Amino acid sequence: APIVHVLGARPNFVKAAPVIDALASRGAEQIVVHTGQHYDEKMSEVFFHELGLPEPDVNLGVGSGSHAAQTASLLVGLEQEFTGRSPALVIVYGDVNSTIAAALVAAKLHIPVAHVEAGLRSFDMTMPEEVNRRLTDQLSDLLFVTSPEGIGHLANEGISVDKAHLVGNTMIDTLLANLAKFDSERVRAEHDLPERYVLATMHRPANVDAPETAAALVGHLHGVADLADLVIPVHPRGRANLMAAGLDEHPRVHVLEPLGYIDFIAAVRGAAAIVTDSGGLQEETTILGVPCLTVRPNTERPITITHGTNRLVTFEELVPAARKVLEAPRPDADRKPPLWDGAAGPRIADVIMEFLVEQP
Ligand code: UD1
Repeated sequence: APIVHVLGARPNFVKAAPVIDALASRGAEQIVVHTGQHYDEKMSEVFFHELGLPEPDVNLGVGSGSHAAQTASLLVGLEQEFTGRSPALVIVYGDVNSTIAAALVAAKLHIPVAHVEAGLRSFDMTMPEEVNRRLTDQLSDLLFVTSPEGIGHLANEGISVDKAHLVGNTMIDTLLANLAKFDSERVRAEHDLPERYVLATMHRPANVDAPETAAALVGHLHGVADLADLVIPVHPRGRANLMAAGLDEHPRVHVLEPLGYIDFIAAVRGAAAIVTDSGGLQEETTILGVPCLTVRPNTERPITITHGTNRLVTFEELVPAARKVLEAPRPDADRKPPLWDGAAGPRIADVIMEFLVEQP
């Protein structure tokens, strides 16, 4: 029986590539189900191509919708898929709607579930991702944890620590495997970027969904652009609100389409600082040694603050913090979280192969 990977959204693709690779080299039979949660060429195909992911065996084409509508079509599509393929194990990644939907369907069908990136907690249940993480972890038989405190979070929720494995971070595996390709000079030339710039990404519902909040955010981003050129590839979510608030009306703001993985990380590598509300970028900047200002009240990735370059800021703190970071010398890139060494995928594959042997 095959191992089925369920991938839906951009960060899933980045996290899955090393696991699929490591399982392939151990001879595992694998199926890739793309749910179609992300479907734009720039949000999906580009990533499969650049990361060398196998073509999905099926694309469920669930597309966008309200949480209920999107999750409902995920449940129906995945149930059909799992029933037809009888997987030995379903592997889910991160905290998106495709993650919880796949875990829920598999659990009801008595198919074991492995969760890659288990144990992260923001303790903020207004974030859809926090809901998805908590429930996915409850339903999982194998929990692959990126950061030591994750084990404690799972234990506090009554999850047996025997199921949890501290393995490191597969998103960082992908980053380190592609390091030589992140040519910031090439990206600067190809996208006509200035010599020195701050790179921003904003897509959290709490920051971009309400027009008034998006407008306030744009005001602060313009404040950053007063200090340095601001490059901002815009995620489809929030594009309308950010543009309606005049994001590109500042002469030093450069709005870009979403970038592919290689160009995006190359642009991050070449930036003087990052302003973001992304989860993954807090981790990637930690390893690249680029200062990161995260515009959120909390983070499920506190290790990027204690062992990395990340700092949380409110809207009001953003401009003063950016000024400080732009004046300071580059932070020390030698502090790294334990096991963020590029070998998380092989560690996960070893645990999975052993788990499958022990299955009845
Ligand atoms: C999802 C994840 C979020 C993750 C993000 C990464 C959930 C609950 N959220 O958010 O955790 O950080 O992916 O990108 O799963 N859209 C397009 N084209 C696409 C995909 C989306 O235009 O290919 C637009 C649609 O208008 C859609 C909106 O973006 O309604 C939101 O898409 P959705 O998949 O619901 O969530 P994201 O905001 O992308």
